[in-house]
Amino acid sequence: NKQLVIAIDGPAGAGKSTTAKEIALRLGYKYIDTGAMYRAVTLLALESGISMDSEEELTKLAEEAEINFAPLRPERNTVYLNGRDVTDEIRSTSVNENVSLVAKIAGVRKALVKKQREMAQSGGVVMDGRDIGTVVLPQADLKIFLTASLETRARRRMNELQRRGENVELEEIKKNLRIRDYMDSAREIAPLRKAEDAIEIDTTGMTVEDVVNKIINLTKEVK
Ligand code: C5P
Repeated sequence: NKQLVIAIDGPAGAGKSTTAKEIALRLGYKYIDTGAMYRAVTLLALESGISMDSEEELTKLAEEAEINFAPLRPERNTVYLNGRDVTDEIRSTSVNENVSLVAKIAGVRKALVKKQREMAQSGGVVMDGRDIGTVVLPQADLKIFLTASLETRARRRMNELQRRGENVELEEIKKNLRIRDYMDSAREIAPLRKAEDAIEIDTTGMTVEDVVNKIINLTKEVK
């Protein structure tokens, strides 16, 4: 069995990470959450008091940050930033509100894309993000573009937060998703966009199981 490279892109909250994680577990592949990498750099910037528009300092942070993923477990995809477990902190509201500002900086993207390509080198990997099929891994064996209505995405995000004991208003979540999608799609470098050869799946009304099965079936058609 060939060790495939699978790219999954789409807007915030479309279910990319839940789906990608499940596919990786089933196929015994690595799962690389590139959003977590942009989040980790953002967390570091917030902690160091670096302003979100100082491109040079943010680039240096991204270049020097050591970001690692622990071997994937069903309940948790642990992210380490310079040896520290930041899995929960990178999901905070302040990171949500600032990550797209950090992610539009050319130097930050260059540094993280380099790390992402290295992580995918061995194959047998599922990578999710915004520019995986278009920029990071244009030669991926299978490209998926996941979407869902804003309402669906916001509700899923709210359920996820509630499970973690956080209470955020649906309208607040919608607003954050809308702003991030706009910033991620409108930016100059590597905007959120479906690759020409990506297969689009609208997951509105689909269960995680449905989406995962559909993608697993698609992997069987890859030559
Ligand atoms: O996937 P997630 O929602 O965790 O990503 C957080 C943010 O990181 C996105 O809103 C986007 O600004 C940025 N991002 C990116 N390119 C990627 C992955 C994430 O610009 N490949």
